[in-house]
Amino acid sequence: MGRLADKVAIITGASGGVGGALVKLFADEGARVLATGRNEARLNELVTDVNRQLNSERVLGVTHDITNENDWAGAVAQAVDAFGRLDILVNNAAIPGRASEEPWNFDAENATTVLTTNIMGAMLGIRAVMPELTKSGAGSIVNVSSAAAFVGGVSGGSAAYASSKAAVGALSREVALGVAKDGVRVNTVYPGLVRTPILENFPEERIARTLSKIPMGFAADPIDIAYGVLYLASDESRFMTGADLVIDGGHTAQ
Ligand SMILES: NC(=O)c1ccc[n+]([C@@H]2O[C@H](COP(=O)([O-])OP(=O)(O)OC[C@H]3O[C@@H](n4cnc5c(N)ncnc54)[C@H](O)[C@@H]3O)[C@@H](O)[C@H]2O)c1
Repeated sequence: MGRLADKVAIITGASGGVGGALVKLFADEGARVLATGRNEARLNELVTDVNRQLNSERVLGVTHDITNENDWAGAVAQAVDAFGRLDILVNNAAIPGRASEEPWNFDAENATTVLTTNIMGAMLGIRAVMPELTKSGAGSIVNVSSAAAFVGGVSGGSAAYASSKAAVGALSREVALGVAKDGVRVNTVYPGLVRTPILENFPEERIARTLSKIPMGFAADPIDIAYGVLYLASDESRFMTGADLVIDGGHTAQ
């Protein structure tokens, strides 16, 4: 309890698997959270649930498309209006891209949507929050990438998804160097296989194939990823920036 006391965070993709776990954990650790997502019903359910459990109004839900600049401006304004400051951004939202046995033979329209969402969405978020994060004195951005940034064969054959997730790491490092002097840190978390709705469009045999490559022998629960993000968001990691935190059961160690 209290590892994020007095902190205010924006978490994207909060209506999804990892996002939901992040919102619960951050609020439990004392943060006030603007939980953003596209699915209003699921978002409302999460917000009501967490606030009831904590007997507080610590979490506010906002529908938000990460590819929309105006939505970002609105989300930052709402966080500051409601909570008075902003210290943390977790760029968690992403889309998987179309699974394919032939990664080179991609659908250009789908690939463009994946790249725009997964890269430009994170870039727009970083740009929108930076003026507030530099005021924080201890700002932290955590970008959620994927083991697909390091090894082939885990993206369901989506070249766009794998490429977008590698670019997320480069984005973190580039921005980290630019804002270190302003007291803002930018780090990347690389999850391996996590049991969440993003896998719904993946055939079970593809999931089994990925599972077979994980030395620990199991897929993560969303909370396993959330604990890593919590560390990077909190002041406990105050000497870390531009760094990679891999949480993948050993998948990329081979
Ligand atoms: N589940 C896995 O195996 C796995 C593995 C590696 C990395 N990841 C990464 O973890 C993060 C969380 O994924 P998850 O597994 O919880 O998936 P999920 O599908 O449950 O959640 C992703 C959320 O992002 C939201 N989203 C997508 N596009 C959006 C947009 N344009 N605007 C706003 N919200 C949008 C979705 O609506 C969804 O709620 C993602 O960045 C994903 O790439 C997941």
